[in-house]
Amino acid sequence: MVTNPQNTNQQARHAIEDEIKSDLNPFHHLVCLSQPLRVAPSFWTQHIPFAMFLIDLLRPRTVVELGTFTGVSYCAFCQAVKILDLDTRCYAIDNWQGDRHNGFYGDEVLQELKQHHDPLYDSFSKLIRSSFEEALPLFEDQSIDLLHIDGYHTYQAVKADFDSWLPKMSERGVVLFHDTEVRERDFGVWQLWQELKSKHPHFDFLHGYGLGLLAVGKSPPAALQKLLRASESERHRIREFFHQLGSGIESPIESAQAAQQTLAELHTKLKEKEQELQTITSRFGEREEESRVSAYHFARHREELEASARRLAEKEREAQSLIAHLADKERQIAKITSSLGWRVLSRYGRIKYRYLLPLYKLLGLTQASRKISNSFLFNLDTLLPEELVIGKGNALYLSGWCFHTIKKIKRLEIIFNGASYPVKRFRLARRDVMDAYFPNLDPKGRSYRSGFWTILAIPQIEKTVDASLQLKASFGDRSEIVEQLGKVTLKAAY
Ligand SMILES: C[S@@+](CC[C@H](N)C(=O)[O-])C[C@H]1O[C@@H](n2cnc3c(N)ncnc32)[C@H](O)[C@@H]1O
Repeated sequence: MVTNPQNTNQQARHAIEDEIKSDLNPFHHLVCLSQPLRVAPSFWTQHIPFAMFLIDLLRPRTVVELGTFTGVSYCAFCQAVKILDLDTRCYAIDNWQGDRHNGFYGDEVLQELKQHHDPLYDSFSKLIRSSFEEALPLFEDQSIDLLHIDGYHTYQAVKADFDSWLPKMSERGVVLFHDTEVRERDFGVWQLWQELKSKHPHFDFLHGYGLGLLAVGKSPPAALQKLLRASESERHRIREFFHQLGSGIESPIESAQAAQQTLAELHTKLKEKEQELQTITSRFGEREEESRVSAYHFARHREELEASARRLAEKEREAQSLIAHLADKERQIAKITSSLGWRVLSRYGRIKYRYLLPLYKLLGLTQASRKISNSFLFNLDTLLPEELVIGKGNALYLSGWCFHTIKKIKRLEIIFNGASYPVKRFRLARRDVMDAYFPNLDPKGRSYRSGFWTILAIPQIEKTVDASLQLKASFGDRSEIVEQLGKVTLKAAY
């Protein structure tokens, strides 16, 4: 038999290629080491290297995905198709609304996916916005080599997806199921997987929520045989390899979860700090209360001190005013005693008693002399104001002289506005004064007191009053005499 050497070469090359394709050595499927171009929120990220590896193994004519969401799994298939320059048609089917397990979302997810997908894969791939069921007629039976089921994850939903799409699978058909390891809530892929894996050749990964590969066609691709027939230890090594490879790809969801974890820790720390702050704030509040009480006491003491200072200043003012008043009165006295009137009066007195009295006596006018000799004589040297405004601490300074021609004065009082004020008296008899008026009336100088002064501290009044000023003298024989000194109108200052 003549053989064509060229054919022999070709056959040998194909045999080597098939061998390489079916080889599970990742260095014969470098596409699985590609950096994924599609990075988006997804729970699928860790399976990207295997998705690319599988495309290289299967070299499918048609790939269909049920459930695409942000397109992480789907774009991994597309990226591998493009890198390997395969003649593959890819279809992503999703209503892009979300579901109860994945969460619901808006149009922006598909819009954003298109922006990534269209420029790169538009030539061989289509994003079909439809329910899985409605998309069924778009595909001929036995036309799909690779079907990825990643829709709604209840047992019923995933079984319905599998059952309805199974007739579309080719003889080489392979079905991938995601979330075969999820047993929370009402996820049921694991349950269907348990049922199916006993009926078909399969391989599964346990990481990344689980990914099951089921060879549903009668003639699975030869390249897949090594994977499907791998021993348990080989399966373990393959799982470990793709787990390691997939874990190296950072998923935004996992980053978000890590960030969430960090956030939760920060929240706890924040709560602790808030607690500390609250303790400090309440302690501060207590201190503030204490200092408020101290401040209150301090303010009260200060008020008392200020009031005392005010009273002191008032007293000082009063004292100053009294001193000024006194000085004024002294000036007035000096003025009066040095005045012409006084001198005339003194001279008249001298004339009267030196010359007139002897003359009276001579003329037998002894009655007059007797009258004089039994008299209480007095004079107020200070001028009385007509009116005085009475506020706090008002005072009236008075000075004058008095004597009785016969009786001894025991006590002198000033009665002003009904109140009695003791009078300071000069003990020494002012002979000169008396003599000036009544010479020789009391040569022994024992019968009289003369010269008095006093300061009347006038209490506050409520309304204007005409106050009378009287001089009261009490004598040795227990008799008394009250003489009118004048009147002053007292006006209330307030
Ligand atoms: C888990 S997500 C797909 C995740 C995706 N494979 C990835 O790589 O991240 C499931 C998607 O299936 C879609 N879906 C669920 N049931 C569907 C149905 N009956 N028809 C169309 N889309 C459906 C949801 O809208 C959702 O986007």
